[in-house]
Amino acid sequence: MTKKLWGGRFAKDADARAARFTASLSFDRRLYKQDLAGSRAHARMLGKCGILTQADVAAILGGLDRVEEEIESGAFPWRPELEDIHTNVERRLTELIGPAGGRLHTARSRNDQVALDMHLYMVEELSRVTGLISGLQEVIVDRAEEQLGGPGAGGAGADQSGPGPTVMPGYTHLQRAQPVLFSHHLMAYFWMLQRDRERFADCLGRTDLSPLGAGALAGTTFPIDPAAVAADLGLAGVYENSIDAVSDRDFLLEFLAAASILMVHLSRLGEELVLWSTAEFGFIEMDDAFATGSSIMPQKKNPDVAELVRGKAGRVFGRLTGLLATVKGLPLAYHSDLQEDKEATFEAVDTVEAALEVTTGMLATLKVRAEAMGKAAGGGFSTATEVADHLARKGLPFREAHEVVGRLVLDCLERGLALTDLTLEDFGRFSPLFDEDILAQVRPAAAAAARRSWGGTAPEQVARQIEAARVRLAANGRTSGTPANAGQDGP
Ligand code: ARG
Repeated sequence: MTKKLWGGRFAKDADARAARFTASLSFDRRLYKQDLAGSRAHARMLGKCGILTQADVAAILGGLDRVEEEIESGAFPWRPELEDIHTNVERRLTELIGPAGGRLHTARSRNDQVALDMHLYMVEELSRVTGLISGLQEVIVDRAEEQLGGPGAGGAGADQSGPGPTVMPGYTHLQRAQPVLFSHHLMAYFWMLQRDRERFADCLGRTDLSPLGAGALAGTTFPIDPAAVAADLGLAGVYENSIDAVSDRDFLLEFLAAASILMVHLSRLGEELVLWSTAEFGFIEMDDAFATGSSIMPQKKNPDVAELVRGKAGRVFGRLTGLLATVKGLPLAYHSDLQEDKEATFEAVDTVEAALEVTTGMLATLKVRAEAMGKAAGGGFSTATEVADHLARKGLPFREAHEVVGRLVLDCLERGLALTDLTLEDFGRFSPLFDEDILAQVRPAAAAAARRSWGGTAPEQVARQIEAARVRLAANGRTSGTPANAGQDGP
Protein backbone atom coordinates (compact mmCIF):
# COMPACT_ATOMS: atom_id res chain seq x y z
CA MET A 1 0.00 0.00 0.00
CA THR A 2 1.20 3.52 -0.81
CA LYS A 3 1.67 5.56 2.31
CA LYS A 4 -1.16 8.04 2.90
CA LEU A 5 -0.66 11.72 3.65
CA TRP A 6 -1.88 11.11 7.17
CA GLY A 7 0.18 7.93 7.75
CA GLY A 8 1.41 9.07 11.16
CA ARG A 9 -1.95 8.96 12.86
CA PHE A 10 -3.20 5.69 11.33
CA ALA A 11 -2.44 2.11 12.29
CA LYS A 12 -4.13 0.56 9.25
CA ASP A 13 -4.60 1.19 5.55
CA ALA A 14 -8.03 2.23 4.33
CA ASP A 15 -10.48 -0.47 3.39
CA ALA A 16 -10.34 -0.86 -0.39
CA ARG A 17 -14.04 -0.08 -0.67
CA ALA A 18 -13.68 3.08 1.39
CA ALA A 19 -10.66 4.16 -0.64
CA ARG A 20 -12.54 3.66 -3.91
CA PHE A 21 -15.54 5.48 -2.54
CA THR A 22 -13.63 8.58 -1.46
CA ALA A 23 -11.18 8.80 -4.37
CA SER A 24 -11.60 11.75 -6.71
CA LEU A 25 -8.57 11.23 -8.94
CA SER A 26 -10.60 9.87 -11.86
CA PHE A 27 -12.22 13.27 -12.30
CA ASP A 28 -10.00 15.81 -10.54
CA ARG A 29 -7.06 14.85 -12.79
CA ARG A 30 -8.65 17.41 -15.07
CA LEU A 31 -7.38 20.10 -12.68
CA TYR A 32 -3.71 19.25 -13.01
CA LYS A 33 -2.77 22.50 -14.76
CA GLN A 34 -4.57 24.61 -12.17
CA ASP A 35 -3.07 22.55 -9.36
CA LEU A 36 0.44 23.04 -10.71
CA ALA A 37 -0.10 26.75 -11.30
CA GLY A 38 -1.39 27.16 -7.72
CA SER A 39 1.56 25.23 -6.32
CA ARG A 40 4.06 27.29 -8.29
CA ALA A 41 2.53 30.55 -7.05
CA HIS A 42 2.40 29.21 -3.48
CA ALA A 43 6.05 28.12 -3.59
CA ARG A 44 7.18 31.48 -4.98
CA MET A 45 5.27 33.28 -2.24
CA LEU A 46 6.77 31.02 0.47
CA GLY A 47 10.20 31.93 -0.88
CA LYS A 48 9.42 35.64 -1.05
CA CYS A 49 8.18 35.61 2.54
CA GLY A 50 11.29 33.80 3.76
CA ILE A 51 9.33 30.69 4.75
CA LEU A 52 11.23 28.49 2.26
CA THR A 53 14.82 28.94 1.10
CA GLN A 54 15.38 30.02 -2.49
CA ALA A 55 17.09 26.67 -3.06
CA ASP A 56 13.94 24.81 -1.99
CA VAL A 57 11.77 27.05 -4.15
CA ALA A 58 13.99 26.44 -7.17
CA ALA A 59 13.92 22.68 -6.54
CA ILE A 60 10.12 22.72 -6.19
CA LEU A 61 9.60 24.76 -9.36
CA GLY A 62 11.93 22.50 -11.32
CA GLY A 63 10.18 19.43 -9.94
CA LEU A 64 6.73 20.78 -10.79
CA ASP A 65 7.89 21.32 -14.36
CA ARG A 66 8.99 17.71 -14.53
CA VAL A 67 5.66 16.58 -13.10
CA GLU A 68 3.90 18.57 -15.79
CA GLU A 69 6.03 17.01 -18.52
CA GLU A 70 5.31 13.55 -17.17
CA ILE A 71 1.58 14.21 -17.07
CA GLU A 72 1.54 15.60 -20.59
CA SER A 73 3.71 12.85 -22.07
CA GLY A 74 1.66 10.14 -20.36
CA ALA A 75 4.62 9.01 -18.24
CA PHE A 76 3.17 10.16 -14.92
CA PRO A 77 2.62 7.28 -12.49
CA TRP A 78 -1.00 7.91 -11.49
CA ARG A 79 -1.88 6.27 -8.18
CA PRO A 80 -5.63 6.13 -7.55
CA GLU A 81 -4.94 4.94 -4.00
CA LEU A 82 -3.53 8.43 -3.38
CA GLU A 83 -7.08 9.73 -3.63
CA ASP A 84 -6.76 12.95 -5.59
CA ILE A 85 -4.73 15.11 -7.96
CA HIS A 86 -3.13 17.11 -5.14
CA THR A 87 -1.68 14.09 -3.40
CA ASN A 88 -0.55 12.47 -6.63
CA VAL A 89 1.36 15.59 -7.65
CA GLU A 90 2.90 16.14 -4.23
CA ARG A 91 3.98 12.51 -3.86
CA ARG A 92 5.58 12.44 -7.27
CA LEU A 93 7.27 15.78 -6.62
CA THR A 94 8.86 14.39 -3.47
CA GLU A 95 10.02 11.29 -5.33
CA LEU A 96 11.63 13.51 -7.95
CA ILE A 97 13.26 16.18 -5.75
CA GLY A 98 13.44 14.70 -2.26
CA PRO A 99 12.51 16.44 1.03
CA ALA A 100 12.01 19.89 -0.54
CA GLY A 101 8.87 18.42 -2.12
CA GLY A 102 7.45 17.87 1.34
CA ARG A 103 7.94 21.55 2.16
CA LEU A 104 5.58 22.73 -0.59
CA HIS A 105 2.54 22.06 1.57
CA THR A 106 3.76 24.45 4.30
CA ALA A 107 1.01 26.95 5.20
CA ARG A 108 -1.45 25.21 2.89
CA SER A 109 -4.23 22.67 3.20
CA ARG A 110 -5.90 20.67 0.48
CA ASN A 111 -9.01 22.59 1.47
CA ASP A 112 -7.74 25.95 0.25
CA GLN A 113 -5.72 24.21 -2.48
CA VAL A 114 -8.72 22.52 -4.08
CA ALA A 115 -10.83 25.65 -3.77
CA LEU A 116 -8.11 27.59 -5.58
CA ASP A 117 -7.99 24.97 -8.34
CA MET A 118 -11.72 25.33 -8.90
CA HIS A 119 -11.49 29.11 -8.98
CA LEU A 120 -8.73 28.99 -11.59
CA TYR A 121 -10.64 26.40 -13.61
CA MET A 122 -13.88 28.38 -13.53
CA VAL A 123 -12.21 31.66 -14.52
CA GLU A 124 -10.93 29.98 -17.68
CA GLU A 125 -14.21 28.26 -18.46
CA LEU A 126 -16.25 31.43 -17.96
CA SER A 127 -14.12 33.04 -20.61
CA ARG A 128 -14.46 30.08 -22.94
CA VAL A 129 -18.24 29.98 -22.50
CA THR A 130 -18.67 33.72 -23.10
CA GLY A 131 -16.47 33.35 -26.19
CA LEU A 132 -18.67 30.54 -27.51
CA ILE A 133 -21.79 32.59 -26.80
CA SER A 134 -20.34 35.47 -28.82
CA GLY A 135 -19.63 33.08 -31.69
CA LEU A 136 -23.25 31.92 -31.71
CA GLN A 137 -24.49 35.50 -31.47
CA GLU A 138 -22.42 36.43 -34.50
CA VAL A 139 -23.95 33.64 -36.57
CA ILE A 140 -27.42 34.75 -35.49
CA VAL A 141 -26.76 38.33 -36.53
CA ASP A 142 -25.26 37.22 -39.86
CA ARG A 143 -28.20 34.98 -40.68
CA ALA A 144 -30.68 37.62 -39.55
CA GLU A 145 -29.05 40.17 -41.82
CA GLU A 146 -28.99 37.74 -44.74
CA GLN A 147 -32.70 36.97 -44.27
CA LEU A 148 -33.57 40.64 -44.14
CA GLY A 149 -33.03 40.75 -47.89
CA GLY A 150 -31.57 43.64 -49.79
CA PRO A 151 -28.06 43.58 -51.19
CA GLY A 152 -26.16 40.46 -50.29
CA ALA A 153 -29.32 38.59 -49.32
CA GLY A 154 -30.22 35.19 -50.62
CA GLY A 155 -26.81 33.90 -49.55
CA ALA A 156 -25.71 30.29 -49.37
CA GLY A 157 -28.58 29.18 -47.16
CA ALA A 158 -31.54 30.87 -48.83
CA ASP A 159 -33.81 29.35 -51.47
CA GLN A 160 -35.52 32.63 -52.33
CA SER A 161 -33.05 35.16 -53.58
CA GLY A 162 -35.61 37.93 -53.89
CA PRO A 163 -34.79 41.28 -52.37
CA GLY A 164 -37.56 41.16 -49.75
CA PRO A 165 -37.22 39.96 -46.19
CA THR A 166 -38.21 36.39 -45.32
CA VAL A 167 -41.61 36.44 -43.64
CA MET A 168 -42.86 33.68 -41.37
CA PRO A 169 -45.87 33.25 -39.14
CA GLY A 170 -45.28 34.47 -35.61
CA TYR A 171 -46.99 32.15 -33.14
CA THR A 172 -48.77 32.33 -29.84
CA HIS A 173 -50.10 29.07 -28.38
CA LEU A 174 -48.34 27.50 -31.38
CA GLN A 175 -51.20 28.93 -33.48
CA ARG A 176 -50.40 31.36 -36.27
CA ALA A 177 -50.75 34.79 -34.74
CA GLN A 178 -49.18 37.61 -36.79
CA PRO A 179 -46.59 37.60 -39.56
CA VAL A 180 -43.05 38.39 -38.45
CA LEU A 181 -39.73 38.57 -40.20
CA PHE A 182 -37.66 35.42 -39.80
CA SER A 183 -34.78 37.76 -38.96
CA HIS A 184 -36.82 39.22 -36.11
CA HIS A 185 -37.55 35.78 -34.71
CA LEU A 186 -33.87 34.82 -34.91
CA MET A 187 -32.80 38.04 -33.23
CA ALA A 188 -34.95 37.23 -30.20
CA TYR A 189 -32.34 34.55 -29.48
CA PHE A 190 -29.53 37.09 -29.81
CA TRP A 191 -30.89 39.07 -26.87
CA MET A 192 -31.52 35.97 -24.78
CA LEU A 193 -27.90 35.00 -25.36
CA GLN A 194 -26.75 38.52 -24.56
CA ARG A 195 -28.34 38.22 -21.12
CA ASP A 196 -26.67 34.82 -20.71
CA ARG A 197 -23.35 36.34 -21.61
CA GLU A 198 -23.82 39.14 -19.12
CA ARG A 199 -24.71 36.64 -16.39
CA PHE A 200 -21.49 34.68 -17.00
CA ALA A 201 -19.44 37.87 -17.18
CA ASP A 202 -20.98 38.95 -13.88
CA CYS A 203 -20.05 35.61 -12.25
CA LEU A 204 -16.46 36.33 -13.11
CA GLY A 205 -16.24 39.10 -10.50
CA ARG A 206 -17.01 36.64 -7.71
CA THR A 207 -14.94 33.82 -9.20
CA ASP A 208 -11.80 35.83 -9.79
CA LEU A 209 -10.58 35.40 -6.19
CA SER A 210 -7.93 33.35 -4.46
CA PRO A 211 -8.83 31.36 -1.35
CA LEU A 212 -5.21 30.31 -0.82
CA GLY A 213 -3.91 31.19 2.62
CA ALA A 214 -7.11 30.09 4.34
CA GLY A 215 -5.34 26.85 5.22
CA ALA A 216 -7.68 24.16 6.48
CA LEU A 217 -10.13 26.85 7.62
CA ALA A 218 -8.58 29.23 10.17
CA GLY A 219 -5.60 30.75 8.38
CA THR A 220 -2.02 29.89 9.18
CA THR A 221 0.72 30.69 11.69
CA PHE A 222 3.19 31.40 8.89
CA PRO A 223 3.76 34.99 7.70
CA ILE A 224 2.28 34.41 4.25
CA ASP A 225 1.18 36.91 1.58
CA PRO A 226 -2.10 35.70 0.02
CA ALA A 227 -2.40 38.80 -2.17
CA ALA A 228 0.94 37.97 -3.80
CA VAL A 229 -0.37 34.51 -4.73
CA ALA A 230 -3.52 36.04 -6.20
CA ALA A 231 -1.49 38.58 -8.19
CA ASP A 232 0.92 35.89 -9.39
CA LEU A 233 -2.05 33.87 -10.69
CA GLY A 234 -3.74 36.85 -12.30
CA LEU A 235 -6.66 36.70 -9.90
CA ALA A 236 -8.28 39.99 -8.93
CA GLY A 237 -8.31 39.55 -5.15
CA VAL A 238 -8.46 37.38 -2.05
CA TYR A 239 -11.19 36.30 0.35
CA GLU A 240 -11.68 38.40 3.48
CA ASN A 241 -12.60 35.40 5.63
CA SER A 242 -10.71 32.10 5.70
CA ILE A 243 -13.75 30.05 6.72
CA ASP A 244 -15.74 31.47 3.81
CA ALA A 245 -12.78 30.92 1.48
CA VAL A 246 -12.75 27.13 1.95
CA SER A 247 -16.53 26.69 2.23
CA ASP A 248 -17.71 28.88 -0.61
CA ARG A 249 -19.06 27.16 -3.70
CA ASP A 250 -21.35 30.03 -4.71
CA PHE A 251 -19.21 30.70 -7.75
CA LEU A 252 -19.94 27.20 -9.02
CA LEU A 253 -23.63 27.43 -8.17
CA GLU A 254 -23.80 30.73 -10.03
CA PHE A 255 -22.16 29.16 -13.03
CA LEU A 256 -24.60 26.25 -12.93
CA ALA A 257 -27.55 28.63 -12.58
CA ALA A 258 -26.39 30.77 -15.50
CA ALA A 259 -25.64 27.60 -17.48
CA SER A 260 -29.14 26.30 -16.76
CA ILE A 261 -30.77 29.47 -18.07
CA LEU A 262 -28.54 29.30 -21.14
CA MET A 263 -29.64 25.71 -21.71
CA VAL A 264 -33.27 26.81 -21.40
CA HIS A 265 -32.61 29.16 -24.30
CA LEU A 266 -30.71 26.64 -26.40
CA SER A 267 -33.37 24.02 -25.79
CA ARG A 268 -36.13 26.38 -26.92
CA LEU A 269 -34.16 27.05 -30.09
CA GLY A 270 -33.44 23.33 -30.46
CA GLU A 271 -37.16 22.59 -30.21
CA GLU A 272 -37.97 25.21 -32.85
CA LEU A 273 -35.37 23.74 -35.19
CA VAL A 274 -36.92 20.30 -34.68
CA LEU A 275 -40.40 21.63 -35.41
CA TRP A 276 -39.32 23.72 -38.39
CA SER A 277 -37.55 20.79 -40.03
CA THR A 278 -40.69 18.62 -40.02
CA ALA A 279 -42.53 18.12 -43.32
CA GLU A 280 -45.52 19.78 -41.61
CA PHE A 281 -43.61 23.04 -41.19
CA GLY A 282 -40.88 22.69 -43.79
CA PHE A 283 -39.38 26.05 -42.81
CA ILE A 284 -35.78 24.86 -42.72
CA GLU A 285 -33.62 22.00 -43.80
CA MET A 286 -30.75 20.92 -41.59
CA ASP A 287 -27.43 20.57 -43.29
CA ASP A 288 -26.49 16.91 -43.75
CA ALA A 289 -23.53 17.48 -41.46
CA PHE A 290 -25.89 18.32 -38.60
CA ALA A 291 -28.50 15.61 -39.11
CA THR A 292 -28.60 11.84 -38.97
CA GLY A 293 -30.41 9.10 -40.83
CA SER A 294 -32.47 6.19 -39.64
CA SER A 295 -31.21 2.61 -39.46
CA ILE A 296 -34.50 1.34 -40.87
CA MET A 297 -36.31 4.14 -42.72
CA PRO A 298 -34.20 5.18 -45.70
CA GLN A 299 -36.13 8.40 -46.29
CA LYS A 300 -35.44 9.86 -42.85
CA LYS A 301 -33.29 12.86 -42.03
CA ASN A 302 -33.49 13.39 -38.31
CA PRO A 303 -32.62 16.55 -36.38
CA ASP A 304 -30.86 14.57 -33.63
CA VAL A 305 -28.38 17.32 -32.90
CA ALA A 306 -31.14 19.80 -32.13
CA GLU A 307 -33.02 17.14 -30.17
CA LEU A 308 -29.98 16.50 -28.00
CA VAL A 309 -29.40 20.18 -27.37
CA ARG A 310 -32.96 20.15 -26.04
CA GLY A 311 -32.43 16.87 -24.21
CA LYS A 312 -29.10 17.63 -22.60
CA ALA A 313 -30.52 20.72 -20.92
CA GLY A 314 -31.86 18.28 -18.33
CA ARG A 315 -28.35 17.29 -17.28
CA VAL A 316 -27.38 20.86 -16.52
CA PHE A 317 -30.54 21.53 -14.50
CA GLY A 318 -29.87 18.27 -12.65
CA ARG A 319 -26.34 19.31 -11.82
CA LEU A 320 -27.56 22.66 -10.49
CA THR A 321 -30.20 21.12 -8.24
CA GLY A 322 -27.76 18.37 -7.25
CA LEU A 323 -25.08 20.77 -6.09
CA LEU A 324 -27.62 23.01 -4.36
CA ALA A 325 -28.76 19.94 -2.45
CA THR A 326 -25.17 19.01 -1.61
CA VAL A 327 -24.31 22.40 -0.16
CA LYS A 328 -27.64 23.07 1.51
CA GLY A 329 -27.45 22.79 5.29
CA LEU A 330 -23.73 21.98 5.23
CA PRO A 331 -22.13 23.40 8.38
CA LEU A 332 -18.99 25.47 8.00
CA ALA A 333 -16.28 24.89 6.95
CA TYR A 334 -14.88 22.18 4.62
CA HIS A 335 -16.56 18.78 4.28
CA SER A 336 -15.92 16.03 1.78
CA ASP A 337 -19.40 16.67 0.45
CA LEU A 338 -17.80 19.62 -1.33
CA GLN A 339 -15.76 17.22 -3.45
CA GLU A 340 -19.06 16.57 -5.26
CA ASP A 341 -18.74 20.04 -6.80
CA LYS A 342 -16.34 18.76 -9.42
CA GLU A 343 -18.28 16.27 -11.46
CA ALA A 344 -21.28 18.61 -11.31
CA THR A 345 -19.28 21.51 -12.67
CA PHE A 346 -17.32 19.51 -15.23
CA GLU A 347 -20.40 17.87 -16.71
CA ALA A 348 -22.22 21.17 -16.96
CA VAL A 349 -19.19 22.87 -18.55
CA ASP A 350 -18.80 20.08 -21.11
CA THR A 351 -22.49 20.09 -21.90
CA VAL A 352 -22.93 23.84 -22.39
CA GLU A 353 -19.76 24.18 -24.43
CA ALA A 354 -20.72 21.33 -26.74
CA ALA A 355 -24.30 22.57 -27.01
CA LEU A 356 -23.08 26.06 -27.96
CA GLU A 357 -20.71 24.65 -30.55
CA VAL A 358 -23.27 22.48 -32.32
CA THR A 359 -25.97 25.13 -32.16
CA THR A 360 -23.59 27.55 -33.82
CA GLY A 361 -22.85 24.97 -36.52
CA MET A 362 -26.52 24.16 -37.11
CA LEU A 363 -27.55 27.78 -37.43
CA ALA A 364 -24.68 28.63 -39.72
CA THR A 365 -25.47 25.82 -42.13
CA LEU A 366 -29.22 25.31 -42.14
CA LYS A 367 -31.16 26.05 -45.32
CA VAL A 368 -33.99 28.53 -44.98
CA ARG A 369 -37.15 27.63 -46.91
CA ALA A 370 -38.35 31.19 -47.31
CA GLU A 371 -41.16 30.24 -49.67
CA ALA A 372 -42.66 27.76 -47.22
CA MET A 373 -42.42 30.31 -44.44
CA GLY A 374 -44.06 32.97 -46.57
CA LYS A 375 -46.88 30.63 -47.56
CA ALA A 376 -47.52 29.68 -43.96
CA ALA A 377 -47.44 33.36 -42.99
CA GLY A 378 -50.32 34.01 -45.40
CA GLY A 379 -52.44 31.19 -44.07
CA GLY A 380 -54.36 30.86 -40.84
CA PHE A 381 -55.74 34.41 -41.03
CA SER A 382 -52.56 35.68 -39.47
CA THR A 383 -53.28 39.16 -40.81
CA ALA A 384 -56.73 39.40 -39.20
CA THR A 385 -55.33 41.94 -36.73
CA GLU A 386 -54.54 44.20 -39.72
CA VAL A 387 -58.18 44.11 -40.74
CA ALA A 388 -59.29 45.08 -37.23
CA ASP A 389 -56.62 47.80 -37.06
CA HIS A 390 -57.88 49.13 -40.43
CA LEU A 391 -61.38 49.58 -38.99
CA ALA A 392 -60.05 50.98 -35.72
CA ARG A 393 -58.10 53.61 -37.66
CA LYS A 394 -61.41 54.58 -39.30
CA GLY A 395 -62.86 55.30 -35.86
CA LEU A 396 -64.58 52.02 -35.03
CA PRO A 397 -63.81 51.08 -31.40
CA PHE A 398 -61.25 48.24 -31.50
CA ARG A 399 -63.55 45.91 -29.56
CA GLU A 400 -66.26 46.30 -32.23
CA ALA A 401 -63.72 45.96 -35.01
CA HIS A 402 -62.53 42.71 -33.42
CA GLU A 403 -66.13 41.42 -33.49
CA VAL A 404 -66.64 42.40 -37.16
CA VAL A 405 -63.42 40.70 -38.24
CA GLY A 406 -64.31 37.60 -36.23
CA ARG A 407 -67.47 37.28 -38.28
CA LEU A 408 -65.53 37.93 -41.48
CA VAL A 409 -63.04 35.15 -40.61
CA LEU A 410 -65.86 32.74 -39.85
CA ASP A 411 -67.39 33.54 -43.26
CA CYS A 412 -64.04 32.92 -44.98
CA LEU A 413 -63.67 29.61 -43.16
CA GLU A 414 -67.11 28.52 -44.39
CA ARG A 415 -66.28 29.56 -47.97
CA GLY A 416 -62.74 28.16 -47.90
CA LEU A 417 -61.14 31.56 -48.60
CA ALA A 418 -58.07 33.34 -47.25
CA LEU A 419 -58.05 37.05 -46.40
CA THR A 420 -55.88 37.69 -49.45
CA ASP A 421 -58.60 36.13 -51.68
CA LEU A 422 -61.19 38.76 -50.74
CA THR A 423 -62.22 41.69 -52.91
CA LEU A 424 -63.14 45.13 -51.59
CA GLU A 425 -66.82 44.17 -52.11
CA ASP A 426 -66.31 41.10 -49.91
CA PHE A 427 -64.90 43.32 -47.15
CA GLY A 428 -67.69 45.84 -47.73
CA ARG A 429 -70.34 43.28 -46.80
CA PHE A 430 -68.98 43.41 -43.23
CA SER A 431 -68.41 47.13 -42.83
CA PRO A 432 -68.81 50.22 -44.98
CA LEU A 433 -65.60 51.62 -43.47
CA PHE A 434 -63.21 49.51 -45.56
CA ASP A 435 -61.27 51.22 -48.35
CA GLU A 436 -59.05 49.63 -51.02
CA ASP A 437 -55.92 49.91 -48.83
CA ILE A 438 -57.15 46.82 -47.02
CA LEU A 439 -56.29 44.65 -50.03
CA ALA A 440 -52.57 45.41 -49.58
CA GLN A 441 -52.69 45.48 -45.79
CA VAL A 442 -53.70 41.81 -45.51
CA ARG A 443 -50.57 40.64 -47.31
CA PRO A 444 -48.16 39.15 -44.71
CA ALA A 445 -45.15 41.20 -45.80
CA ALA A 446 -47.19 44.39 -45.59
CA ALA A 447 -48.53 43.40 -42.19
CA ALA A 448 -45.00 42.86 -40.90
CA ALA A 449 -43.76 46.08 -42.49
CA ALA A 450 -46.50 48.04 -40.75
CA ARG A 451 -45.29 47.10 -37.25
CA ARG A 452 -42.87 49.96 -36.97
CA SER A 453 -43.08 50.44 -33.22
CA TRP A 454 -39.80 50.19 -31.28
CA GLY A 455 -38.54 46.60 -31.31
CA GLY A 456 -41.29 45.62 -33.75
CA THR A 457 -40.97 43.40 -36.78
CA ALA A 458 -40.89 46.06 -39.54
CA PRO A 459 -37.73 45.69 -41.65
CA GLU A 460 -36.33 49.07 -40.57
CA GLN A 461 -36.84 48.16 -36.91
CA VAL A 462 -35.17 44.79 -37.40
CA ALA A 463 -32.30 46.48 -39.25
CA ARG A 464 -31.92 48.93 -36.36
CA GLN A 465 -31.95 46.01 -33.93
CA ILE A 466 -29.26 44.20 -35.91
CA GLU A 467 -27.14 47.32 -35.83
CA ALA A 468 -27.58 47.61 -32.06
CA ALA A 469 -26.63 43.95 -31.76
CA ARG A 470 -23.42 44.50 -33.70
CA VAL A 471 -22.51 47.38 -31.41
CA ARG A 472 -23.16 45.11 -28.43
CA LEU A 473 -21.02 42.34 -29.92
CA ALA A 474 -18.12 44.71 -30.39
CA ALA A 475 -18.50 45.95 -26.80
CA ASN A 476 -18.62 42.36 -25.52
CA GLY A 477 -15.24 41.76 -27.07
CA ARG A 478 -13.80 44.85 -25.43
CA THR A 479 -15.21 44.27 -21.94
CA SER A 480 -14.68 40.53 -21.68
CA GLY A 481 -12.49 41.20 -18.62
CA THR A 482 -10.81 37.84 -19.00
CA PRO A 483 -7.38 36.87 -17.73
CA ALA A 484 -4.46 36.61 -20.08
CA ASN A 485 -4.35 32.82 -19.86
CA ALA A 486 -7.85 32.32 -21.22
CA GLY A 487 -8.31 33.34 -24.83
CA GLN A 488 -11.28 32.88 -27.22
CA ASP A 489 -12.97 36.19 -26.57
CA GLY A 490 -10.22 38.76 -26.76
CA PRO A 491 -10.84 42.24 -28.10
N1 ARG B 1 -10.49 15.81 -3.10
C1 ARG B 1 -10.85 16.84 -2.20
C2 ARG B 1 -11.92 17.72 -2.80
O1 ARG B 1 -12.11 17.64 -3.95
C3 ARG B 1 -9.67 17.67 -1.86
C4 ARG B 1 -9.74 18.29 -0.52
C5 ARG B 1 -9.65 17.23 0.49
N2 ARG B 1 -9.58 17.72 1.81
C6 ARG B 1 -9.85 16.96 2.85
N3 ARG B 1 -9.73 17.44 3.99
N4 ARG B 1 -10.29 15.73 2.67
O2 ARG B 1 -12.58 18.48 -2.14
